Amino acid sequence: MPIKLLEDLPGVGPATAEKLREAGFNSIEAIAVASPGELGACADVGETTASKIIAAAREAADIGGFETGDIVLERRKHVGKLTTSSKSLDDLLGGGMETQSIVELYGEFGSGKTQVAHQIAVNVQLPQEMGGLNGSAIIIDTENTFRPERIAQMVGGLPASEDRTWEPEEFLKHIHVARAYNSNHQMLLAENALDLAEKLKDSDKPVRLLIVDSVTAHFRAEYVGRGTLADRQQKLNKHLHALMRFGDLNNALIMVTNQVMAKPDTFFGDPTKPVGGHVLGHTATFRMYLRKSKGEKRIARLVDSPNLPDGEAVFSVTTPGIKD
Ligand code: GTP
Ligand code: MG
Repeated sequence: MPIKLLEDLPGVGPATAEKLREAGFNSIEAIAVASPGELGACADVGETTASKIIAAAREAADIGGFETGDIVLERRKHVGKLTTSSKSLDDLLGGGMETQSIVELYGEFGSGKTQVAHQIAVNVQLPQEMGGLNGSAIIIDTENTFRPERIAQMVGGLPASEDRTWEPEEFLKHIHVARAYNSNHQMLLAENALDLAEKLKDSDKPVRLLIVDSVTAHFRAEYVGRGTLADRQQKLNKHLHALMRFGDLNNALIMVTNQVMAKPDTFFGDPTKPVGGHVLGHTATFRMYLRKSKGEKRIARLVDSPNLPDGEAVFSVTTPGIKD
């Protein structure tokens, strides 16, 4: 019998499964990458039992192991690039935002993170010759800032084309939005996104973009106080790996937003640094720091990219969308 539910794992009854879910272990994959100590404490079982549960989960879950370089190369061949609608921003990113990667936008309030998110949710649906990926978007909205009206304005701002007209309703139909009410819910939605992507895989608009706006806000609000820092980082790490896996499985771009710390506080450290610290820093493939400039102008700086030079780009947030 294939193991699908937590209850299918040897040693996990309904009560243990419930405790695990409450602690955020919503899937076989989440259990597969847990440590025995962590799992044991959450489920009130001994470490030996916890080890057995984890071993079974590892066997059942496709958590990936080693793959040979030629397979990695084969997958990399399918990497697509998505335009941001700003030439200078695209250039900074080496031609656009890449699929199979996590792009993190961080910056203070009003720096344009959510605006860029709206724009790429539109652009991902465009044909490739226009810088799109001919796909759908999924948005996990943790701050209730998704605005369909804004999408409509941005569709109105798309370059005119002689042989077609852009209908906002059509674009809205290919943006799947869910509100996340807390960090556990957010993690669960990332799992559900896999199911949705699977369903759309053979449609004319497979999912090519997953946005989490903001990826850190709930974690930051829920894990307050020194003693909880390790727990928070561990969960955030798990979440980011689930997102990365989504990107690999679906040849999708993962775009996450993150605020910088508004005021210095000893717990979160340096006020100019993004929330989430090194966990996010090491997982994101591209990190961009956005800041406000005059009026509609925004400045993006690429930070720590694996294969691109660091640099800056200026773009604008306008009513018809992101522009140079
Ligand atoms: P937080 O989520 O609060 O951290 O900020 P953010 O980085 O997500 O900011 P967001 O992307 O929401 O940017 C908001 C800013 O975008 C506003 O302050 C405006 O400057 C600009 N903006 C939003 N909508 C419009 C619009 O319709 N027209 C124009 N010209 N600018 C807009
Ligand atoms: Mg925002």
